[in-house]
Amino acid sequence: MQLTKNNLDTDFDSIPIKSFWNMSDKKENKIHRIHSYPAKFPAFITTKAIEYAENKGVNVNLVADIFCGCGTTAYEATRNGKDFWGCDINPVATLIAETKSQQYSKEKLKKYFDKIRTSFLQYSINIKETWEINSRIKYWFKGKQIKDLLRLKRSINETFPIKSKYRKFFLSAFSNILKPTSVWLTKSIKPQVDPFKKPADVMESFTKQVKMMCDANNENVLTKRTKIKIENINFLNKKINGSFVDLIVTSPPYVTSYEYADLHQLSTLWLDFAEDYRSLREGTIGSLYHNSNFTEDIKELNKTGEKTVFQLYNYDKRKAKSAAKYFVDIQKSVYKAFDILNKKSLAFFVIGNTEYKSVRIDNAKHLVESMILAGFEDIEVTKRKISKKILTPYRDNKGKFTSNKNSRKVYAEEFIIIGTKK
Ligand SMILES: C[S@@+](CC[C@H](N)C(=O)[O-])C[C@H]1O[C@@H](n2cnc3c(N)ncnc32)[C@H](O)[C@@H]1O
Repeated sequence: MQLTKNNLDTDFDSIPIKSFWNMSDKKENKIHRIHSYPAKFPAFITTKAIEYAENKGVNVNLVADIFCGCGTTAYEATRNGKDFWGCDINPVATLIAETKSQQYSKEKLKKYFDKIRTSFLQYSINIKETWEINSRIKYWFKGKQIKDLLRLKRSINETFPIKSKYRKFFLSAFSNILKPTSVWLTKSIKPQVDPFKKPADVMESFTKQVKMMCDANNENVLTKRTKIKIENINFLNKKINGSFVDLIVTSPPYVTSYEYADLHQLSTLWLDFAEDYRSLREGTIGSLYHNSNFTEDIKELNKTGEKTVFQLYNYDKRKAKSAAKYFVDIQKSVYKAFDILNKKSLAFFVIGNTEYKSVRIDNAKHLVESMILAGFEDIEVTKRKISKKILTPYRDNKGKFTSNKNSRKVYAEEFIIIGTKK
């Protein structure tokens, strides 16, 4: 369905699902499963977006993802022989994204793994070193795992120079074993301790993880040499000197759904991205913890943003303030996205709606309105099914499914919004 400012009051629920954007029959490459990441989008979307843009006559040389997360678009663009630029504010995301979009020599991976394992077995950690460890790490890990993780981290760091892609490969493996080797409640989207959990053994988990990543690398045949640049920055602060992108494929963060900084705190602490993981909430779009300047934010909101924020305000003032900041940040991102696009090129946004205490949070309509105001034309909105599996659409404040209608509603569909810069 084509939307303009004249028919923006369309009920988005009535927009039909297009099966073209539902799941693909093709299996995703294993590389997409090397590290868990919340709100990852399906890999096939990038290939279909490239196909769609090329059918519309766009000459796609460079694909961008302004919220690149764990690098789904980065890898798929590269696999399709396109250059890629992307950024994410979360250093754990960009570490995984960089790891995924490289190819590694099988022999070297084996040689380096053996070397890391040998030095791990030789190292011993003295008690003083464990005293110096960040207190937050001590909260999540038991003594044996702390010692083993210290030995493993040191073995990896000493095996490679700082910039080596192999070092990033093994640090990504290290990062993905942190939840199973801690007392973090498995599969929870909110950080909480599982008092009954028996944390996994460090070297066993690392060995399994590296094997899985090596299998993914063997399947991974990136034939054409493409240029890839992934930056760990706040997109809102990116300096733009002219347009350079032919196609954007991205999924923006949602309002107060995932606290990315909190969810990745184990990796942040162990990989020394920050002394206090909470500092990484700063600048993250959609975080509940922003010190918002509410009176200023509401002046900048578009109509959909304003309506939603005022409805929320009646139920939960704090939520309304974070929503205002979220909507303003998304509006700014859409303007910036428009600026980085070359003329006659396309942007694809994948986004779903949510509901909070019966207030509908119309992320999709807000995005369309932002795109119209930024100058995008021929805006096409379609819908896709996320999964057949969502039986109950509500989640409680711990992220578990519930039938309580006062909880956060998650829809079983999401929107694909396509805009053209003419
Ligand atoms: C829905 S996720 C993207 C997931 C991605 N499509 C994938 O498949 O992994 C949104 C991402 O936006 C990032 N983000 C939030 N605020 C940002 C900002 N100001 N600048 C850049 N990235 C940001 C989050 O860290 C998160 O990784």
